[in-house]
Amino acid sequence: MGLHVVSILFIIMISSVVTTTSLQPREVASPGSDITLSCSFPPSKNLNLNHLIVNWQRGESEVVHSYYNGRDQLERQSVVYKGRTHLFEDQLTVGNASLRLSGVQPSDQGQYTCYVTDEQRSTQESLQLLVAAPYDEPRMSVQATCDGFVVTLRASQGFPQPEVLWGGVMGSNTTMELDSRGRYELESEVTLRLNSTLTVTADLKLRVLDQSFTKSLTLHPPPAIIEVQFLISPMGVAAPGSDITLSCYFPPSKNLNLKYLIVNWQHGESEVVHSYYYGRDQLERQSVVYKGRTHLFEDQIAVGNASLRLSGSHSRIGLDSRGRYEVHSSMEVRPNSTLTIIGEMRLDVLNQSFTRSLTLHPLPECCEVSLAPGADWLWDY
Ligand SMILES: *[C@@H]1O[C@H](CO)[C@@H](O)[C@H](O)[C@H]1NC(C)=O
Ligand SMILES: *[C@@H]1O[C@H](CO)[C@@H](O)[C@H](O)[C@H]1NC(C)=O
Ligand SMILES: *[C@@H]1O[C@H](CO)[C@@H](O)[C@H](O)[C@H]1NC(C)=O
Ligand SMILES: *[C@@H]1O[C@H](CO)[C@@H](O)[C@H](O)[C@H]1NC(C)=O
Ligand SMILES: *[C@@H]1O[C@H](CO)[C@@H](O)[C@H](O)[C@H]1NC(C)=O
Ligand SMILES: *[C@@H]1O[C@H](CO)[C@@H](O)[C@H](O)[C@H]1NC(C)=O
Repeated sequence: MGLHVVSILFIIMISSVVTTTSLQPREVASPGSDITLSCSFPPSKNLNLNHLIVNWQRGESEVVHSYYNGRDQLERQSVVYKGRTHLFEDQLTVGNASLRLSGVQPSDQGQYTCYVTDEQRSTQESLQLLVAAPYDEPRMSVQATCDGFVVTLRASQGFPQPEVLWGGVMGSNTTMELDSRGRYELESEVTLRLNSTLTVTADLKLRVLDQSFTKSLTLHPPPAIIEVQFLISPMGVAAPGSDITLSCYFPPSKNLNLKYLIVNWQHGESEVVHSYYYGRDQLERQSVVYKGRTHLFEDQIAVGNASLRLSGSHSRIGLDSRGRYEVHSSMEVRPNSTLTIIGEMRLDVLNQSFTRSLTLHPLPECCEVSLAPGADWLWDY
């Protein structure tokens, strides 16, 4: 079945439970941000900066930033920190050897130690840098399709990847992509066919920040009033002039009253192919292109079958400036296997006939095939 969008009137209840508690690691920085790693030491009286040594290291030996002889000494600095560190020289005299680290990256995570030595003593302080960002509150949304629902959970701005757990349903599909700042955007969806009321829950957990969200949504099977808007992108294949049934099924309600059912078939964004409401066909707004060519199987609607019979191909015939006819005949097809289409055009008054054929291979996207014989037709009586 082709792409279709359905808007269905139904009742949804969205509820959410939010819990956020910090694990309190020494420092937490989100990807792309700047952070000041704190380090303080007892300052000596009359501290001479020429005799002060400050060394910031990561892990056992990686040099993050060094300061001695009264200035920054960056020859041995690890390349990964090049241009990203800053020591506040004016703060050293008050015992503050904090280091600014800019453009935090996931690989910066780890243990940092600052070693400070002056004329009287040596001190050292360690801290753990955790690269993480809490997720924005996730949003849950639902889209009705011709034959069910797609429930989607979206969350963004977080790091690292969270756990996503769906309750009450199977077969979720989750994608996570990094945004320009290196935080994740997550989209997780499940597709459902409902025959009774169902509560769907989704949990999103970021353990490293002890962050957890629960979202839930209660879906009811569509009640008797439903509106189906079907944007046709038919999988069906029709030779010009032949008939085709475009399939559409929806979950039928018990005691469905056809008086309260609305079925709208559309072509493209707005062209009305066929409308049905108040228990009968309503063709005032039907596009002239489809006049007399559509048929809904009224006896099938009650069982959830809103398929539409479409007769003939799309042919448009118009006069050009010289009074000659131009004929364009086209149809939309989405072949699911290799297919040969034959178009035939006859001008009986001149005993003229053209046949064109075209072999199509399956395409990923909908394609339009034009089967115009390519001639101007002169009607000469
Ligand atoms: C150390 O200096 C930095 C930069 O001025 C400042 O942000 C930080 O608060 C200072 N720390 C202390 C303990 O004073
Ligand atoms: C999951 O979603 C992605 C993106 O929407 C899609 O390309 C992929 O085919 C889906 N996978 C499954 C198993 O549905
Ligand atoms: C819907 O009904 C069918 C059979 O009537 C059953 O197999 C299926 O599990 C039901 N689905 C749900 C979501 O209840
Ligand atoms: C391909 O489309 C035809 C016509 O709609 C259908 O009868 C057939 O089952 C489809 N085949 C597959 C493999 O989907
Ligand atoms: C829906 O109705 C059409 C027309 O009667 C029929 O061709 C088609 O097989 C029906 N589909 C189902 C699943 O019953
Ligand atoms: C029309 O053309 C066909 C084939 O070219 C020929 O067999 C037939 O006799 C022609 N009919 C008339 C009425 O000229």
